[in-house]
Amino acid sequence: MDYVIIYAHPGPKSFNRAILERVESILRKAKKTFEVRDLYASRFNPSLGANEIYPAGHVKIPQDVEREQNFIREAAAMIFIYPIWWFGMPAILKGYIDRVFSEGFAYSIDGEKLTGLLTGKKAVIINTTGGPRELFARTGYEEAMRKATDSAIIEFCGMEIVEHRYLYGVQSIDDAARKRMLDDLENIDF
Ligand SMILES: Cc1cc2nc3c(=O)[nH]c(=O)nc-3n(C[C@H](O)[C@H](O)[C@H](O)COP(=O)(O)O)c2cc1C
Repeated sequence: MDYVIIYAHPGPKSFNRAILERVESILRKAKKTFEVRDLYASRFNPSLGANEIYPAGHVKIPQDVEREQNFIREAAAMIFIYPIWWFGMPAILKGYIDRVFSEGFAYSIDGEKLTGLLTGKKAVIINTTGGPRELFARTGYEEAMRKATDSAIIEFCGMEIVEHRYLYGVQSIDDAARKRMLDDLENIDF
């Protein structure tokens, strides 16, 4: 499989849904194979269980987590599509990372040495924001988010980020500007 798409938005009429649909259409046109993991639709349980916090091998990986890990194992690349909420990812996606990107699957620890295990996979991240670009630049929030997500999660696990695109202020722009944003997704080097 070429891509696994991790999608985290509950709204059927959201702009994030329009992004997902455009990305699906781009991939279909390019004859790529992909699987969409719609975390709200599948009611993914984001709550890490007490029996999941020990190193892999010492615990039985829960079935729902194993299923997600298999999709990721099979995919050459991951695409994340989600809105920025509280200057980070929606809680359901954070819970997905907590549970699915487990030790022994996404990274390993040997003494002080941490090794990413998802090496060789590429990642594309597409986010929408309520606030304008200027706010994110002036406050340093964008840089903080890039550190917290790109560096501390995606690259930490060994993946290479092909593109992390922020679509700013999507609530306060008009339909024509939103359409341009969707059209611009065609330029991502998936
Ligand atoms: C719970 C919640 C938290 C939010 N936090 C932020 C935020 O920290 N920064 C920001 O720019 N926008 C924030 N927003 C606005 C969303 O980013 C915005 O509504 C979304 O990107 C629009 O895309 P959609 O139409 O697909 O929902 C928040 C929205 C919600 C519902």
